[in-house]
Amino acid sequence: MKHWISVLLTMLVSFLLITGCDKKSTRPQPTAYDNASVFTGGIMYDKFWSEEAGFDQNDTNIAKFDAYSDFFRCKQCHAWDLLGRSGSYINRAPKTTRPSVADLNLYQTAQAKSAQELFDEMKSTTDRRDISYDLSTYDPATNFTVGDQMPNFSQILTDEQIWDIVKFLKEGALDVSQLYDATYTGTYPTGSVSYSNLGRDGNATNGATYFGSNLKCAGCHGAEGTFRELENMSLGGFTRSKPNEVQHKIRYGALGSVPKMAGDSTLSLTQVKDLYKALADTANFPD
Ligand code: HEC
Ligand code: HEC
Repeated sequence: MKHWISVLLTMLVSFLLITGCDKKSTRPQPTAYDNASVFTGGIMYDKFWSEEAGFDQNDTNIAKFDAYSDFFRCKQCHAWDLLGRSGSYINRAPKTTRPSVADLNLYQTAQAKSAQELFDEMKSTTDRRDISYDLSTYDPATNFTVGDQMPNFSQILTDEQIWDIVKFLKEGALDVSQLYDATYTGTYPTGSVSYSNLGRDGNATNGATYFGSNLKCAGCHGAEGTFRELENMSLGGFTRSKPNEVQHKIRYGALGSVPKMAGDSTLSLTQVKDLYKALADTANFPD
């Protein structure tokens, strides 16, 4: 009798061990999306071939990307706010040196589509501009069809780089309507935009503390944001006139800046709101 009990016990223990091990070996492995970097993706959205993005600086296409930069930067066609023609770039008309802004709300699209669907769009070759296309012939009046097309990124980026970008689109891009009010008038490319209510319901005190803490911003831009000239503007003035752009720069960096302004993609929507609320104050952060 005792013998049978021990046989049964052994069988039970082995069964438990085997199923336990089974569970372990079928635990899902992290996907390419899980492993992707929002931060790198955000940098790539600005300029995918930058050193900061870790792009191979010996890539044979670098000279072409540099010469026709706006035809390759995501931000030129989709804008810093990801709203394309219906956002801040409502008046960014094409020129011989830059293409039209895309007629697509990439923010909404990225929220609506799955990561895999976005990845597939990025890899798509339909209606995409071949890397060999001669952009010196671009003319917004007479020859724009191919120049305005999205580049064929399957020829340019690795899958890993595309996953980084997809992760940025889904998780790293901010909903700018939470950061400020924008009034858009007219239609692309002759429309206009005006910004108000910077920082909305953010907390200016917290924002000012962040600005000054650990030399976050003040260390390089001065306590009132006037130390460095940014396109002839103070930091306060720049933020008030381009809130669409500043939110990206503070989270992903000012590429090529010296000293390097690295950006902090862990800065939350609330923190950006607080910072904007502080920078809205023209007495503390004069033009
Ligand atoms: C020269 C302009 C241009 C550039 C540069 C560009 N795009 Fe696009 N993109 C477009 C246009 C136009 C469309 C809409 C038509 C289409 O889907 O082909 C589009 C579509 C997309 C879509 C598909 C949206 C959907 O319908 O699902 C994604 C995603 C996207 N772009 C992301 C990016 C990213 C990320 C970059 C930079 C790595 C980039 N684009 C660079 C012009 C551009
Ligand atoms: C390590 C120094 C450093 C720190 C820290 C820093 N910046 Fe900068 N920032 C720079 C430099 C350098 C530039 C480029 C100036 C130029 O174009 O001459 C710059 C540019 C900018 C621009 C303009 C971007 C552009 O592309 O024209 C904004 C806006 C800005 N900084 C905001 C901030 C804010 C807000 C903070 C704090 C969250 C901050 N910076 C922290 C050094 C810094």
